[in-house]
Amino acid sequence: MPSLAVNVDHVATLREARKINIPDPVTAAAMVELAGADGVVVHLREDRRHIQDRDVRLLRETIKTKLILEMATTSAMIAIALEIKPDLVTLVPEKREELTTEGGLDLSLHKDAVSDAVQALQKGGIPVSIFVDPDLDQIKLAHRIDANCVEIHTGTFCDADTPKKGSEAFKKIVNSAKLAHKLKLRVNAGHGLGYQTIKAFKKLSEIDEFSIGHSIIARAVFVGLDQAVREMIALIKEL
Ligand code: PXP
Repeated sequence: MPSLAVNVDHVATLREARKINIPDPVTAAAMVELAGADGVVVHLREDRRHIQDRDVRLLRETIKTKLILEMATTSAMIAIALEIKPDLVTLVPEKREELTTEGGLDLSLHKDAVSDAVQALQKGGIPVSIFVDPDLDQIKLAHRIDANCVEIHTGTFCDADTPKKGSEAFKKIVNSAKLAHKLKLRVNAGHGLGYQTIKAFKKLSEIDEFSIGHSIIARAVFVGLDQAVREMIALIKEL
């Protein structure tokens, strides 16, 4: 069964809307772990719009499962990761004006910088995942620079507005996951996944872990975080 890592950035988004100390993503992390999640994801953005340095430090002390740190490929972020030592770093592209991460890292453009970051992080004992679009060339490049893992971007599939576009996008995910698995990369998948779109992953056994944030936190507003996480785990169990 694939595992589930829950992204708690949006709990911090709500806190930062008031610039006070509630709700606390550290409390949310403990709750998602108690509900059965296999890991907690946070994206420490350069503009610190949601997760703060204090959150990452406390999460490192309190998380009992896995702390996955999403970050840009910059020397400042690499220094923070080497100090905090998350269980996995996921390298993502980052633009200040975006609402959320808009696509995978383009390794054909940034191969050297990403390769240097992968080496520096691995030397510090941190395995590295690279968030890439479902594209066979990107998977091959991730393998060539010795990444431990790829996270396949599922956003285009999840946001498709016609069944045809959805099935075309899903085919690319399937082919990319199969290639990555064959190349012995660990295969994660995420972005935009929800309680309906997750069902498409039935029988795609190459996926090791789903990384899901928005849909779980959105549902938690109405049913509570514990139930929202448990409902997603139940759907993943059925895959
Ligand atoms: N994976 C990556 C690399 C992301 O940047 C995000 C968004 O922070 C997610 C997964 C989770 O996406 P969503 O919040 O749409 O579930």
